[in-house]
Amino acid sequence: MALAEPETADRPSTQSHATERHGGKTPAGGAVTIRDLSKSYTINGRPFPVLDRVSHHVEAGEVLSIVGASGSGKTTLLRVIAGLETADQGAVLIDGTRVAGVGTDRAVVFQEPRLLPWLTVLDNIAFPLENRGATKAEARQRARHYVDLVGLADFADALPAQLSGGMAQRVGIARALAVKPEILLLDEPFGALDAMTKITLQEELSRIWREENVTMILVTHDLEEAVFLADRVLILPREKGESTREIVVDLPRPRSRSEPRFVKLREQLLNAFGLH
Ligand SMILES: Nc1ncnc2c1ncn2[C@@H]1O[C@H](COP(=O)(O)OP(=O)(O)O)[C@@H](O)[C@H]1O
Ligand SMILES: [Mg+2]
Repeated sequence: MALAEPETADRPSTQSHATERHGGKTPAGGAVTIRDLSKSYTINGRPFPVLDRVSHHVEAGEVLSIVGASGSGKTTLLRVIAGLETADQGAVLIDGTRVAGVGTDRAVVFQEPRLLPWLTVLDNIAFPLENRGATKAEARQRARHYVDLVGLADFADALPAQLSGGMAQRVGIARALAVKPEILLLDEPFGALDAMTKITLQEELSRIWREENVTMILVTHDLEEAVFLADRVLILPREKGESTREIVVDLPRPRSRSEPRFVKLREQLLNAFGLH
């Protein structure tokens, strides 16, 4: 990753309770500071503001969910954090250093897993590792570990066309984690899945996050998913000019969706959208 001048994050990185959730391992890094980000697209020759001075901080090892109405700029914000797009103003800092493009510290999971159809599950996961200089044997060995982690050991030699949507998305998650990013960025990863598969994968992702030492930023339009997975939920405004809001999800893991405090937080989030 090309690095611009080092900067200090708005908030100093403190020892967070993320440490204890990751089985005592301290996340090596991966604190994300979103500082005063603004971005407009030009549509029909006129500027169309999408992000308006968004600021937020995610501690290393935490999970942030980003929610907001369709078109509120969730994907744009995630792509700016990934370094796939640049902001007009403001900055994203990782452990205090400004990002200036894509980097090996971040990996993205999209709604469509975008697997290479001619490669097996194992080779889809190994491919980016070989691209980064691992030998075929090393890449396959590490890919094997991640195939197991996402519960697809029996499908390592299957081709993408033989997988269900949920299984394909598991491969996408394994492929992203195999490069050992500090930050996993997910854009509505379960948005195209049926309700039961989605719940299973949310539980799997929660377990995986506890096993792997990563910061997660998850864009979702599913408010229950946001509460289930996140430490904090960032709500993007509906109207430009309004500011973002945050809800802290201070619930122990593993979480139960029927627990009164869970239900209450979900309600609180619904209310933030003017829904009941
Ligand atoms: N490349 C682009 N060019 C022009 N407009 C865009 C582009 N990408 C997104 N937009 C517009 O920006 C707004 C926010 O998009 P997006 O970040 O995808 O929102 P969300 O993910 O919350 O639905 C939308 O109105 C969308 O049409
Ligand atoms: Mg989107």
